[in-house]
Order: sequence, then structure tokens, then C-alpha cells
Amino acid sequence: MPLVPMRVLLDHAAEHGYGVGAFNVNNMEQIQAIMQAAAETESPVIVQASRGARSYTNDAYLRHLMLAAAELNPRIPIAMHQDHGNSPATCLSAVAQGFTSVMMDGSLTEDGKTPSSYEYNVRVTREVVKAAHAKGVTVEAELGCLGGIEDGHGAGLSAEAALAHLTDPAQAGQFVADTGCDALAVAIGTSHGAYKFKRKPTGDVLRMDVIEDIHRRLPDTHLVMHGSSSVPEELVAIINRFGGKMPETYGVPLAEIRRGIQHGVRKINVDTDNRLAMTGAIRKVLHENPGAFDPRDYLKPARAAMVDVVRERMVAFGQAGQAGGVPVVSLDEMARRYGGR
Ligand code: G3H
Ligand code: 13P
Ligand code: ZN
Repeated sequence: MPLVPMRVLLDHAAEHGYGVGAFNVNNMEQIQAIMQAAAETESPVIVQASRGARSYTNDAYLRHLMLAAAELNPRIPIAMHQDHGNSPATCLSAVAQGFTSVMMDGSLTEDGKTPSSYEYNVRVTREVVKAAHAKGVTVEAELGCLGGIEDGHGAGLSAEAALAHLTDPAQAGQFVADTGCDALAVAIGTSHGAYKFKRKPTGDVLRMDVIEDIHRRLPDTHLVMHGSSSVPEELVAIINRFGGKMPETYGVPLAEIRRGIQHGVRKINVDTDNRLAMTGAIRKVLHENPGAFDPRDYLKPARAAMVDVVRERMVAFGQAGQAGGVPVVSLDEMARRYGGR
């Protein structure tokens, strides 16, 4: 099956009440791990690459690896997504490279760090929507800025700034109407990386109520949760058992993600959990076999550890078993639908 527009996956997920994991990739083993888990669980899947991933891999390697993934898995609908595009130019270069979905993250200015104005966000997102939809490509936008609101914890914004930049449910409807985006990423107190919360998150720092409020107002809008790694204690423990030094930390519990899925969340971004799984497996091999030097000796267990995480997420999010039901829609057909033709 060719790569499909992400919108098709999200529409099917909404119709059937499940969520789709969007897993970040930087190399062949990660793509293989996602595809193995998807094939085993018969899951539609979103594979995503950040700007950093694109420059690490080189677009040509990434494009051909994804074509291989599609060729080897003809029954799995796969969307290829640009994660956190920082400008229209980044998003349009992804479209040119064959990505079937892009995120225009206009919640931050082009430096990817500074919170932007509403007007800037609408302007750059609209620009991307116009160009991407003409090619049938899906657009995710973000309103509000990610960042931990637990005191002194979480990457990115300070606690105060993160609280001030939670998505405003009252603004969400206007933003979706102003931009024409296909999916809306929301800021609810999560942050990227392993250090999200110092203790198991409660409703004051993981604001699932914001998602519920937005979904009540916009029941037909596909919502996206970023920073959704669960940071399993056992994966951190493996890293620490074999020479790592990670402090106690907590992520987003799967039960909270499932609650989000009941309230309109259709795309769930997971990167860190896979990084933890792979790193733990590599540390273990090298600790137990100090003489090992063939990369396959540690990359195979690393890949297998990632398959376990992705498989578990696919089952938890409800996408397992859904691959066969997703309609096959080409980019051209999507472009016609967007154009009303
Ligand atoms: O956006 C966050 C993802 O985990 C990607 O991270 O920018 O280090 O590739 P990255
Ligand atoms: P995690 O760091 O929680 O895996 O989040 C990844 C993400 O949101 C990518 O956009
Ligand atoms: Zn993100």
C-alpha cells in the first residue's frame, strides 16, 4: 500500500473511537520496529520525523526507508508525518519529499522556542494548509505551547509560562476555523522528553480537563497529544541497572491517554519511551558483553525492545486490528476532496 494521507487514519479512528500512535524515527531499526509491531497487531500507523531526524538521516535515506516499509507491508496503512515543522518552508520541503502529513507548529516562532502570537500562528498555518491540501497532504496545527506546569520540572517553558500557554478551549474553535487544519495539537501540561513530572501526575499538572472541554466544544476536531510517553519505571530501571544515571521521573499514564481518546484524541506522539527501551537494551548488552563490537549484537535487542513498547502502545490506544478497515484514499483523491471537486 502506498503511504496514505494521515487524515484518512484520523477520520477512521474517530469513526471507530480509537487513537493512533505517532512514533518518531531516526534510523532503519526504528522504522523496522514500528512496522513489525504494526504488522503483528494489524495496526494502521503514523511514522514521524522531526527536523532533527530529517537532518540526521538525510531525506533521501528516510524516503527510501519509508518506501521499503510500505512495500514490505502492503496491508498496513502508513502515514508519514513531519513532526514540529517550524516554518512553511520546512513543511513544504517535507511535502516535496513525499510526506503525507505535516505539522505546522506555529505556536512557536521559527526558532522553535519562542511562543508566537495568535496572528502569526494563523498566518503560517493557513499558508501551509493551502499548499499541503492542494497535494492532498494532511496538516496538524498547534494552539498553546507544550511545557510542564509542575514546579521546576519539564523541558522547554518555565512552569509559569507553561501554565499561561495551555490551550485556551474558548479560542480553539476560532483557530480551527481560521486555519482549516485537519488536527489540533493541544497543550495540557505535558512536555517532551523523559522529565515530565516528579510524581505520578494528578489533574492539576496533567490537565485532561482541557481536552475534555475542547472536545465538548469541537466534537468533530481530531485532537493530538504531544509529550505522551509514559516513561515506564521498568525501562528507566534497566538503564540505571546497567550504568545509566536517570533520576526518578514520571510520564503520562496510559490510562490518561485512554481517557483522552474517549474525548477526541486521535493521534498520540511517542518518542521517549522508544529511546528508553533501545538505550536500556544496548546498555545491557554492552555491560554483559564488554567485548562485543558488532553493532548487530546490540541493535537487534534494541530493535526488539522497541517492538515491545510500540506493540503495547498500539494495543492500549485501540489501533490494533484496525488496519484492514481503513479505506484506501490516494493523495490525489484527498486533494480533490479538499478542493471540493
Ligand atoms: O519533538 C520531539 C520529538 O521527540 C523529536 O525529538 O527533535 O530530538 O528529534 P528530536
Ligand atoms: P515524548 O518525548 O513524550 O515521547 O513526546 C514526543 C513528541 O511529542 C513528539 O512530537
Ligand atoms: Zn511533540
